[in-house]
Amino acid sequence: MLLVVAFLLAAAATWQPALSAPAPAPACHGGARAEVEFVRVCCARTLYPRLCRAGLAPHAASVHSSPARLAVASANLTLAALGALAARIPPPGPGAPSGSGALGDCAEAVASAAGQAARAAERLRGVEQAVGLEVLWRVDDALTWLSAAMTDEDTCADGLGPRESAPAPVRAELRARVRRAKQYTSIALALVNMLVSNKPRS
Ligand SMILES: *[C@@H]1O[C@H](CO)[C@@H](O)[C@H](O)[C@H]1NC(C)=O
Repeated sequence: MLLVVAFLLAAAATWQPALSAPAPAPACHGGARAEVEFVRVCCARTLYPRLCRAGLAPHAASVHSSPARLAVASANLTLAALGALAARIPPPGPGAPSGSGALGDCAEAVASAAGQAARAAERLRGVEQAVGLEVLWRVDDALTWLSAAMTDEDTCADGLGPRESAPAPVRAELRARVRRAKQYTSIALALVNMLVSNKPRS
């Protein structure tokens, strides 16, 4: 916690109002090409550039080369991936108390992760209009919520280990969906971090 505060103070001291200025236009001339190029350049700095581009390029027009709106869109994608995952978790069998067993733990963790991602998206929606320290606390909150979502996703993944939790094909599909949700969460964390990094966007 102290570290976070120290980081925020250091960041506040050196923070430049990059967010309030329009993002420098990437290579192309204005319009749709530049907006897609902006997504590409930002995505290149995440761990999953291809998935990031595939997920966010369709939103390039509404993101409009705004780093804050790109972060919101990535939190939205995380939320959508968690929703798709939740929808595929089989309900507990007849007689089983709801939430029982490993699959129940996974379902609970995914619901919790979706809540965290929604809170992160809510914090990020205010960033574009925010200035100075408000940007920093919104970003810090969003990072906290997204990290918590990542932890919940790991908890779900643990619930998919036991053979008896579900038939193998079901567990395989759910594992793939958890992996995808984690990748989107990682992308969102990276894009949110970029909101307060002073590195030049290149
Ligand atoms: C994120 O989702 C919210 C709620 O569905 C929506 O209003 C908003 O336009 C989305 N933002 C972006 C940048 O995709």
